[in-house]
Amino acid sequence: MNLSLLQATAKAMVAAGKGVLAIDESHSTCKKRFEALGVECTEDTRREYRELLVTAPGSEQYLGGMILFDETLRQSTRDGRKFVDVLKQKGIQPGIKVDTGAKDLALHVGEQVTEGLDGLRERLTEYRGLGATFAKWRAVINISDTLPSMGCVRANAHALARYAALCQEADIVPMVEPEMIMEGTHLIERCYEVTAEVLKALFAELAEQGVALEGAILKVSMVLAGKGAVVQSDEKTVTEQTVKCLKENVPANIAGVVFLSGGQSDAKSTVHLNLMHQLGLALPWPLSFSYGRGIQQPALEMWAKDRSAFEAAQKVLVHRAHMNGLASEGKWSPDAEAQA
Ligand code: G3H
Repeated sequence: MNLSLLQATAKAMVAAGKGVLAIDESHSTCKKRFEALGVECTEDTRREYRELLVTAPGSEQYLGGMILFDETLRQSTRDGRKFVDVLKQKGIQPGIKVDTGAKDLALHVGEQVTEGLDGLRERLTEYRGLGATFAKWRAVINISDTLPSMGCVRANAHALARYAALCQEADIVPMVEPEMIMEGTHLIERCYEVTAEVLKALFAELAEQGVALEGAILKVSMVLAGKGAVVQSDEKTVTEQTVKCLKENVPANIAGVVFLSGGQSDAKSTVHLNLMHQLGLALPWPLSFSYGRGIQQPALEMWAKDRSAFEAAQKVLVHRAHMNGLASEGKWSPDAEAQA
């Protein structure tokens, strides 16, 4: 493991004013998002849309990394430039989603464990050869009065740690992602409790597997009430509880912490991140974004409505990346939003 290389990659991903754009939707997720907007999901429409995202002029000012799906890592622009080379020229780290998805956890109704460890060492070697410098693995944790079980928490934490160790062996920065799912009626207090428990289990497993946190990134959900909860917490509570939970449970030496948007609107995703930086608390790690929908949605809607609006949709994408870049330093304001 080349720790200084891992550290340099991780540092670039969360450099000041920058975060990560997630465009690693699997074919089935992509199909759902495209079809909801009336676009057929084929290899070519996926390539066309991802070209829009990868080549957006100016995105490199706000993006330190972009997470790709296997197919996208191998694709090229219309004029024949590998996506990965375009990103490298822009100084954006190319990442790859390497898990093979969340599958039902045996004997645990309503819970999943993420798979993909078999053959991962060989896949990572190939991905490294194709130009990937970091990877992502997402674990899914459902919340209710009784879920998650310790069996589910430990199985996912163990898989995340095994994945992270394999990544570091291949000089690839692991982004370890436990996502506490927003579906449900749980209150914010329950999300806090579960997030804390999951982070404790995760960092215990990472330590046991020898993972160097200085060369790893945590991607996590914010502490929020479930979508169906009778009480929705205000922005101040969400930001305070999220930062408190992270400060109490995330070791200071990890290279960075980034959020997924997880179904929050693009506006809320930006406001929450911004407010966290305005709490005036010293944070031991860079705290930024790794949004998928939170950055892509407006651009996707524009492109889906009018496929010739390629450049206009790119501007909309870069605008959202810019707003989140500002938020990652607590510098976003409604004025900045309006000026664009
Ligand atoms: O793993 C989750 C995605 O990379 C982030 O997607 O921001 O739409 O939740 P999201």
